[in-house]
Amino acid sequence: MIVIGTGIAGLSTAIFLKKKGYDVVVLSKEEELQETNTYYAQGGIIGPRPEDSSQQLKEDILEAGYHYNSIEAVNQIAYEGPQLVKDFLIDKVGVKFSCNEAGEFDYTGEAAHSIKRVLHYKDTSGEQIENSLLAYARKLDIKILSSYVSIDIITNNHHSRDTRELYKEREVMGIYALDEESGEVKKMLSHYTVLATGGIGALYKHTTNSEVSTGDGLTMAYRTGADIINAEMVQFHPTALFHKDIKGFLISESVRGEGARLIDHDGSTFMEKYAPEQKDLAPRDVVARAIYSEINSSGKDYMLLDVASYYEGEKDINKRFSRIYETCKEGGIDITKEPIPIVPVAHYFCGGIKVDLFGKTSIKRLFAVGETSCTGVHGANRLASCSLLEGVLWPQKAAEEIDKNFKPIEKNRFAEIPEWKSPKETEKFDNILLQQDWESIKLTMWNYAGIVRTRHGLKRANADLNYYTNRIFDFYNSAELRKNIIELRNGVVAASAIVRAAMHNKKSIGCHYLAE
Ligand code: SIN
Repeated sequence: MIVIGTGIAGLSTAIFLKKKGYDVVVLSKEEELQETNTYYAQGGIIGPRPEDSSQQLKEDILEAGYHYNSIEAVNQIAYEGPQLVKDFLIDKVGVKFSCNEAGEFDYTGEAAHSIKRVLHYKDTSGEQIENSLLAYARKLDIKILSSYVSIDIITNNHHSRDTRELYKEREVMGIYALDEESGEVKKMLSHYTVLATGGIGALYKHTTNSEVSTGDGLTMAYRTGADIINAEMVQFHPTALFHKDIKGFLISESVRGEGARLIDHDGSTFMEKYAPEQKDLAPRDVVARAIYSEINSSGKDYMLLDVASYYEGEKDINKRFSRIYETCKEGGIDITKEPIPIVPVAHYFCGGIKVDLFGKTSIKRLFAVGETSCTGVHGANRLASCSLLEGVLWPQKAAEEIDKNFKPIEKNRFAEIPEWKSPKETEKFDNILLQQDWESIKLTMWNYAGIVRTRHGLKRANADLNYYTNRIFDFYNSAELRKNIIELRNGVVAASAIVRAAMHNKKSIGCHYLAE
């Protein structure tokens, strides 16, 4: 079995499959396996809390998602997710979460949650989860390959030399992947392939995401003909640090969950104007747009988040939010004394490869889990701290489904899949060309497919992306294959998919906000 991606969803899938007795190979395109969005998550994951109820969690998810969600998927996560955090992440994998002085879990609050139910490890929850999962996967002897860049998904229809395969139902039979170290493209055959490649934040000029988030899985699945849904639903996080040297650093929503307030440059709070009841803890899209509007009307470059004056947590600010404290301090801001300059930035992809309750895509033998998939849980706007939860529950379901219906691909069919063919003459491209294209894509997405969209802006984005696509495909076809070229080709296709979905959806809702 092949699993692509080493964030929470990829590692969890590999672990569940391995426990069922399957041989699993996990691929990361990075040298550092931890280089995932999971690693950078600060807030935490929804855990089971006696004072909470599945029904209440379900209502919060639906409310945040504008009831654009799949009810079945929301039921699954609300009724089964939190308990799995205890049974799997805590009891089996050994993930540690912060506790209060009495030794009980220190649940934190985040926007649009009606109760504090988020388990965290200080403000480095993702790092704690990622490192624990990696250690556990290694203990189970799961094979993990770094610097393996997936290029294309192999299907019987597209790749088999046996022409009879053209007339059969489309099935995934593995992938072609570039081994960056040797420069060779490997044919990797597999009975089932699981995409856990993460999000698309790197398509935007400003993002909390790691640069790895170039929409690889989305694009590969799209090329196989898999259904993609809700691609217009890109969630913007209201608060990233605004700093000339530190880019895209997240200031966790849990900071507001523990009392911090958004203020303007005169020191006045403003969220009550936009969300009289929930104020600073209104759903993310509402807060992001409020900040965007305050920035535009004031002519300033940023707004401010005041922790020092409003903090209500038990621990000292610098202990509770140690990474935020340290990072801001490096940037010359003492969060225990002064407000933090913030701006909203691209954060999470609520759309993706359409999957069912078991992570099954519309193509046989292809599964998708985590941010690259769209289960329907998030609807038009994700409730905070649901993504890590989805990233552990769907892998369990996918592994069960694969195991229940396991059917190997016959050897003679595998034998008809050819090795990768590179063009005879390849060209090395100057990085400057790639960078120029990336800058253009990121700016196009930021300006025209961002927090507030217009019909004209989207139309222009579509035209510009078509032009970049032609140019990029041209040089992809003659280029010496490298990770950066593969990512660029994926990135431009993913960006186009988002823009086209945004043009198609005429209804302004949640993350997809249309001004006209
Ligand atoms: C945060 O800590 O604000 C991010 C949590 C999330 O995106 O769910």
